[in-house]
Amino acid sequence: MKKLIVGNLKMNLLSPSERERYFKSFKNELKGKVFKKAEIVLCPPSIHLESFVENLKNKTVKIGAQDMFWESEGSYTGEVSPEMVKASGAEFIIIGHSERRKYFGETNETVNLKIKVALKKGLTPIVCIGETKEEKDMEITMDVIIQQIQDGLRDINRTQVGRIIFVYEPIWAVGSDIVPSSNEIMGARLLIKKILTEKYGSKYIEKIRIIYGGSVKPKSVNQVCVEPGMDGVLVGRESLVPLELIKIAELVNKQ
Ligand code: PGA
Repeated sequence: MKKLIVGNLKMNLLSPSERERYFKSFKNELKGKVFKKAEIVLCPPSIHLESFVENLKNKTVKIGAQDMFWESEGSYTGEVSPEMVKASGAEFIIIGHSERRKYFGETNETVNLKIKVALKKGLTPIVCIGETKEEKDMEITMDVIIQQIQDGLRDINRTQVGRIIFVYEPIWAVGSDIVPSSNEIMGARLLIKKILTEKYGSKYIEKIRIIYGGSVKPKSVNQVCVEPGMDGVLVGRESLVPLELIKIAELVNKQ
């Protein structure tokens, strides 16, 4: 299984000209580089999906959306459907990002609806889980993760689960420049594996990729990905600078 570098561009690249500059710089940085053991998934705002697919999608670079609704079509003002994401040429979908949970009322139940529809429509779900600072201080991280996985995976069977990518993204590490120790990340990885093994059996989850997200930078890749044996990273701010994102991809690829 290839390692994964997911670039979450969030609500950035405000105009077509900014987007064009991004393409130019991304292509420049990627030129001549071969990633045998890693792939990059860029997740732009939905309005840019098609042009990202047209301009950057190739063997190494795949495209994903940052969110979607669970219904296919109809009177849902402002929403983007799984069919629309799929038709754009995107293959991945981030689900349950902490910013969706915080600002837009995403819950474990809506995460579950979205995972199910993504799997049904042939999109690869990138599912974010992790605890807040308060939950960490209360020492209930394990309970939070168990709940998020159990609710999020309701009615998902063992033949489907292997297609899900899990992101351990402690919310206090997002945008904060503080990252957990590699032991903490390894602990979360083992916990996620244990929950999944108990639920589905080891055979069905051996290929599942578990990646880390939250303040990933080239200088922290060792600590957050290599040392704890993660299958990749989810990168926010640094993904806006192709030079940095590709540096991160090179480090993960060498792992
Ligand atoms: P960050 O964001 O890398 O800027 O911390 C990560 C994320 O929220 O996806």
